[in-house]
Amino acid sequence: MHTIEYKPDIPIIRMIDQRRLPGTLEVLELETLEDVIHAIVDMAVRGAPAIGITAAFALALKGRSSTKATYKAWSTELGQAGEQLLESRPTAINLRWAVEQSLEFIQTLKDEALPVAQDKLDAFVQSLADEDVEINRRMAAHGAALLKDGSTVIHHCNTGSLAAVDYGTALGVIRYAHESGKQIHVLVDETRPRLQGARLTAWELDQYGISYHLISDNAAGYFLQTGQAEAVLVGADRIAANGDVANKIGTYMLALAAHDARVPFYCVAPRSTFDLRIRSGDEIPIEQRPEQEILSIQLGGEQIVPSGARAFNPAFDVTPHRLISTFITDSGLIAPPYPQSLKNLLEEE
Ligand code: MRU
Repeated sequence: MHTIEYKPDIPIIRMIDQRRLPGTLEVLELETLEDVIHAIVDMAVRGAPAIGITAAFALALKGRSSTKATYKAWSTELGQAGEQLLESRPTAINLRWAVEQSLEFIQTLKDEALPVAQDKLDAFVQSLADEDVEINRRMAAHGAALLKDGSTVIHHCNTGSLAAVDYGTALGVIRYAHESGKQIHVLVDETRPRLQGARLTAWELDQYGISYHLISDNAAGYFLQTGQAEAVLVGADRIAANGDVANKIGTYMLALAAHDARVPFYCVAPRSTFDLRIRSGDEIPIEQRPEQEILSIQLGGEQIVPSGARAFNPAFDVTPHRLISTFITDSGLIAPPYPQSLKNLLEEE
């Protein structure tokens, strides 16, 4: 199955519960908007494209289960649902993008009978999901050309199928290169505190038959400095108009080390991750997550610190655009000088 699926006939949203991997592959069946919001906040589903499409599905689910009798009441209810979804995770712009796309589409349905409007909204959100997979494959094809046969690459967080509807962004590039017959070895950053690298990326690589070694986040600099990695690949949660990238905490340190070691640092992201409304990374809201994620190694596991210890837990950081060698997007590769090159390509569309 895909990471997330919408079944309008029931109606439910099905998703792989990413909190339980790699030990247990459990599929959640969510029936209400509140359940979906909880799944996003608690990270049963995570990864920028995945939470975006989940939010679109949630609007369609709400639209289908609504008891409102008029278009006006129905669309107002969906507008309020959109507001609630926007609050669930603040950094990934894909969530806002998907909610805005869906709400704009809902505006076009005002002359339809409600059952028709519901059907059309279901079809629209499904088209966003299908497009997500196509976009990822397109990005992967562009990016795979940059990876040399026999190379070792560092990958941060999880950007694979689990972070999207399917296929993934940065991990999609690695997967495409592998499927095209290249030998790629991946150094998987474990990605503290939620261990998306250790738990999810390693699980995916294992299934694709791609060779990997897990490394602690702290070891990435060592591998770069000693010439043991030819490239670094990351995804993004939001990219400002000047090319500054918000991504999983630790991305900035990784980019600094890659820059110092003169190793290319590739950021792989679809058009929906670019937020051209903000000028620089300074304007990107950084989600602060619960301290408990830092105070133990594993979620719900034994505390590793003295009682009373406090923790800071920013979930993302911002990598300045000067540290990004190339953006790999569905529109093609974008190389410096930023922001001009970004502007040219994205505005052309
Ligand atoms: O907190 P998460 O697990 O949702 O963070 C995910 C990331 O930071 C990914 O790198 C990002 O969403 C890009 S992946 C497609």
